[in-house]
Amino acid sequence: MHIDPVSYVRSAIRSVPDWPKPGVTFRDITPVLQDPRSFRVLIDLFVYRYMRQRLDLVAGIDARGFILGSVLAYELNLGFVPIRKKGKLPYRTVAEEYSLEYGNAAVEMHTDAVRPGQRVLLIDDLIATGGTMMAASRLLQRLGANVIEAAAIIDLPYLGGSAVLRKTGLPIYTVCDFN
Ligand code: PRP
Ligand code: ADE
Ligand code: MG
Repeated sequence: MHIDPVSYVRSAIRSVPDWPKPGVTFRDITPVLQDPRSFRVLIDLFVYRYMRQRLDLVAGIDARGFILGSVLAYELNLGFVPIRKKGKLPYRTVAEEYSLEYGNAAVEMHTDAVRPGQRVLLIDDLIATGGTMMAASRLLQRLGANVIEAAAIIDLPYLGGSAVLRKTGLPIYTVCDFN
């Protein structure tokens, strides 16, 4: 590889102007996933960061966080917990509402998905306003989990989400920024 791993992953992210609405530049990770080398480099960045940490579970956020979270959980030999969009989980749930760069939504977890005191790595593809990550982190904390870090591939720092999340005391790791 001729460039460093972070630049390699970042260069595979596609920027789509004015999608899903005018003024939003969509940062599309599908080319990273499609290319076996950038997918592996991406997952390995997360694996190297977390392989020596004491963790019990990886929690991934519906939908793009599932793609990363389940692979990472498997690689780290941990269980995986899905944090789903509202209305998809069949058993007893807890929910948190949040607002997005382009709308409103709610996430849910099964009440027995984590046990109090479990050490959880939270993962999604991107932090924009931080609303999704914040709602997911609150859900985990309501169930008594210890959120060790919230990780994503992309931060959009101009929207202020990662700064707000850090101010709440939540450790944040992102692979790269887009301004
Ligand atoms: C996107 C992205 C993050 C979230 C970030 O998910 O995957 O989860 O928005 O935005 P925020 O920081 O402002 O909350 P989205 O719900 O659009 O769709 P997905 O189901 O494709 O993941
Ligand atoms: N989710 C929220 N904002 C986004 C963006 N600009 N690109 C991709 N996913 C997003
Ligand atoms: Mg998402």
